[in-house]
This record gives sequence, structure tokens and C-alpha cells, in this order.
Amino acid sequence: MGLTKNDFNESKNTKEEFGVSTLLIHSDDILNGRTVNDVAPPINVSTTFRYSKNSDDWIPWRDQTQEQQNKLLNEDFVYSRLSHPNNIRLETNLNKVFKGYTTVYNSGLSTFNAIMTYVNPSQVFFEDCYHGIKSISRIWERNNSVKVYTKLDDIFDNLQEGDLVHLESPINPYGTVIDVAKYIDFAHSKKAFVVWDATFAPPPVLDPWKFDVDFVIHSLTKYFGGHSDLLAGALITRDSSINTVLKNDRIYLGTNIGNLEAYLLLRSLRTYEMRYKQQSANVADLVRWISENNDNYKRIGLKITHALLQKDTFVKDQLEGELTTPVFSLYLKDFETCKKFISNLNFFQHATSLGGVESLVELRCLTDPHIDLNLIRISVGCEDSKDLINDIKKSLENCLETI
Ligand SMILES: Cc1ncc(COP(=O)(O)O)c(C=O)c1O
Repeated sequence: MGLTKNDFNESKNTKEEFGVSTLLIHSDDILNGRTVNDVAPPINVSTTFRYSKNSDDWIPWRDQTQEQQNKLLNEDFVYSRLSHPNNIRLETNLNKVFKGYTTVYNSGLSTFNAIMTYVNPSQVFFEDCYHGIKSISRIWERNNSVKVYTKLDDIFDNLQEGDLVHLESPINPYGTVIDVAKYIDFAHSKKAFVVWDATFAPPPVLDPWKFDVDFVIHSLTKYFGGHSDLLAGALITRDSSINTVLKNDRIYLGTNIGNLEAYLLLRSLRTYEMRYKQQSANVADLVRWISENNDNYKRIGLKITHALLQKDTFVKDQLEGELTTPVFSLYLKDFETCKKFISNLNFFQHATSLGGVESLVELRCLTDPHIDLNLIRISVGCEDSKDLINDIKKSLENCLETI
């Protein structure tokens, strides 16, 4: 395949363009067969690794060149907080599909904290985004007097060199897309950093590099994990020297992904694109049905938000192909009606998170302190869409009958 170990630059020069599934199934082949000829990547659970038997190799950490330290991180393992065979295999794989240098973490949120630690901004700007990003920013405000702005338009009057602008599109929980270009252009004119949380539109749905951002983050817990059984995050840059700093910081922040999670995630990557395609086709069916039947449920105040219902041209600039984000939100007229709707669903389990093969519904205010009480987030899974539509239909009818 010509896919080489842990080096994005080498792949830039190859003419062949591989599909996402091919990349996720084969990008770590280069690490195959170190001990046995297994097809399924093994899990290595060791936290500590023997030093070389040759005492000439024992060089004090402070005397090591960057190259020697990189070798310790990538090949000759020391301690699993630094790195381990599972996270290296995962990063080797993800570098290709993310088209950059990937550092994996023990959660999606750890990626944002890693960026804050690297950039060390005086000011941070965001608007609608995952609530955890807001809460981390508030910790930095409390401890380090970082100024927090909650409107992206505030950058036009306040942004300074070295500040951080956080973008999320499509947005959790609405599943809608925002026009990011003006924010990115302005931020770069001020020499500020821009991070794009693309969790809701992973490759090949969206290519944030097209918009020239500095960092891309993904909660791998969601679509890449896909089975609601692991927490992980990826932080990608196109600058190898930044990547080196991030990997070194991660040692001392203690945020490397665990052995088991890395193993589970590598297994999940193999089926990611199939799952995402099914979830995307399902959400299209559900959003179409709900928007076409909206009028029947006016009495219970049904409203829906999703990118497929947005007509703006910037939506297609971001979500270029046939795929779309498998999350949308519904509003019903009040808190009680929301509770009734959720209680009567069969296939949508009432739980937080998203991206798994099983459909979930959440009364979002149960975990998000910043959201409307009557907003219901739906994460569409891989079930048959006609069964999901029937489930929603029955529950809406029930709300109408008991109003
Ligand atoms: C858009 C987005 N970004 C980041 C995160 C945080 O990810 P994690 O839960 O893996 O820390 C989430 C979690 O829901 C999310 O939805």
C-alpha cells in the first residue's frame, strides 16, 4: 500500500488516494507481525517496558536528542503514560485519514485542554458548542484569568495575537452548520489560533484543512468508537514540531489513551465508514419524515433542527458529499411533553452521548447546564430507519392524544 509508519509527510508525496475504509483497515499494516502473524491487531497491556540489555543505550533523558526521545516515544517503549504499542498503532492509522499529525488522548475533552496548555491564550472565544468546552474554559478563567467570550462575533472587536478561537460545526446538539470562513480569516489576520471540533462530521464528511485551521479535534468516543464502550480523543496538527510538544505535554498531563481503549478503538475503526453511512442514511430518512409531517404535530409544538434543513451555501461547502451528521434536535412545547415523548420511545434509549450503533435520545438539560429545558437531542444509530420512524411517530401520536 505504500503506507509508511507514523509519517504524514511521506504520504503527501504519493499519488494514490485511498478511500476512508481502506485507510482505516490498512494504515497500521506497517506494524503487522512483530511477533506473530495475527490479522487482528493485538492488545498489549503492559504499563512498563524493559530497557535495552546493552548498557551503551542507557542515555540520561536530559542528554537525549529530540530524535532519541522520539524513538523512545514511538518504538522503544518506556512507560505507558509516555506511549505504548496500542496508541502508536492507533496514531499510525489515524494520521492518514486525518491528513495530519495525530495525538490521541483519553477523552475528547482532553484534546481541548491540551490545546489550551499549548497555546496558553489570554482570551478564548466560542459560541454554540459542546458544553464541556465551555466548562474547561471557565476553569482556565478561574485559575489563569483567561478571558472567556461566548459570542464568536466578539472576535471582531477583541481578538489579539495568540488568542484561541474555538469553532464547532456541525454543532452539538442541533446538528446544524455555521459559516466559519469569516472567523478563520479574521483570526489569522490577527495571528490568533483556530481550532475546529469536527466530531459531528468526521472524514470523509468534512475536511477542516480546506478552511486552513490550526488544530482539528475529534471526540473518538463517538463515531470512530461507535459502540458506546470507550472514551478517546484525537488532536491533529499539520506541524510536526507542534505535534512533538503536544506529545511531550501529554506525558505530564497524564492524558494518553489507555491500552484497552486504544485496542477497542482500532477494532472499531475497521467498520467506521459502514456504520457512519448507515447512520447518515437513517438520519436523512428521519429528518425528511419529521419535516414533512411537522404540521400534524403543531399542537405539541414540534420543531426540528438539522443541517439537511439549512439552505445556506456554506452548508454544502462543509458537508460536500452525500453524507450528513447523524444527530438532530427536536423541540416540544414544554418540559412535561418532552418527558412523555421520551418515555414512550422503544428503540431510542434515554442516555447521553452519541455516535454508537444504537439510537439514543436525551433530554439534553439533564447534562448540559446551558440548554433549553424543552430540547431533545437524538443520535441516530444503525437500526432500520422505518422502525425508528414508526417509534417516533407512535410517541408523537401518544403526546397528541394525552395533551
Ligand atoms: C462535539 C463534541 N466535542 C467534544 C466532546 C467531548 O468528548 P468526550 O466525551 O470524548 O470527552 C463531545 C462529547 O459529547 C462532543 O459532543
